[in-house]
Amino acid sequence: MSDASSTETVRYPAVVLVTGAAGGMGAGHARALAARGVHVCVADVADTAPVVARIRAEGGSASGHTLDVADPGAWARVVAEIRDARGELGGLVNNAGISRRLEFLDTSDEVWERVMRVNLFGPFYGMKAVAGLMRDSGGGSIVNISSIAGQIGYFSPAYSSSKWGLTGLSKSAAGAFAKWGIRVNSVHPGLVDTPLLDGADAFVASAVASVPAGRTARPEEVTDVVLHLLSDRSTYLTGSEVTVDGGLTSNGLYHRIVAESGGARA
Ligand SMILES: NC(=O)c1ccc[n+]([C@@H]2O[C@H](COP(=O)([O-])OP(=O)(O)OC[C@H]3O[C@@H](n4cnc5c(N)ncnc54)[C@H](O)[C@@H]3O)[C@@H](O)[C@H]2O)c1
Repeated sequence: MSDASSTETVRYPAVVLVTGAAGGMGAGHARALAARGVHVCVADVADTAPVVARIRAEGGSASGHTLDVADPGAWARVVAEIRDARGELGGLVNNAGISRRLEFLDTSDEVWERVMRVNLFGPFYGMKAVAGLMRDSGGGSIVNISSIAGQIGYFSPAYSSSKWGLTGLSKSAAGAFAKWGIRVNSVHPGLVDTPLLDGADAFVASAVASVPAGRTARPEEVTDVVLHLLSDRSTYLTGSEVTVDGGLTSNGLYHRIVAESGGARA
């Protein structure tokens, strides 16, 4: 074991940009990073002021940035704001995402295009926009929030395709940016208790029956993985998929069969 891995100190980049950080899991990631001494650039189409104010009230450092991730011009402006104000960037969490739980034949061209633009084009524009500043900062870590819908078939074609695309985009970027000391990994949450699941009670109840852990994830359980991937505890992890799903994709089928048939020997 090296000296570095035997010490208790975990190091994070000085400045990290989190998209979709005005609410849901993104806000949780932002607060957790700020609590560890990171300056967090809180970016969202929605109002970031409440999250920034909360981080500051908790003793942390944060700045708010208006950003529609589907707009490459907005990315250029936000990265320029960060370069001017902080001079460096060591982490990006491409967390912003939208979900439309529409079956295949109910998915209109408009829904298809918007979901792709936010969930897939957004991280592409984002990684292109930050790469130069991260290189100039000595390297960094990019965490792309995909989903288990980006690892298995999922009924909603736009969401699933966008997240599968993000899985591949992450691996492509990991190869492209390794020369600059920039790591890129994707995180694949299963069902997480956030507003994204609002109004989907029947869907969630049915899905939980296939989760060996027997419950949805707490947002903090995804935050812990994001923190790990941003930290100096994951320096040899790049191009990897980290699945955070309570065993759903690896064991959900047989878990459900065993539960419904009354035991493995039934
Ligand atoms: N909740 C789950 O069960 C779950 C499971 C797997 C993956 N995910 C993924 O995790 C990420 C976060 O999900 P969540 O549950 O916290 O969602 P959420 O809906 O609670 O929050 C999403 C945030 O993204 C912002 N946003 C939406 N469109 C944007 C845009 N164009 N530009 C910038 N910001 C935008 C919203 O304003 C919001 O603050 C998403 O990428 C989602 O696909 C969620």
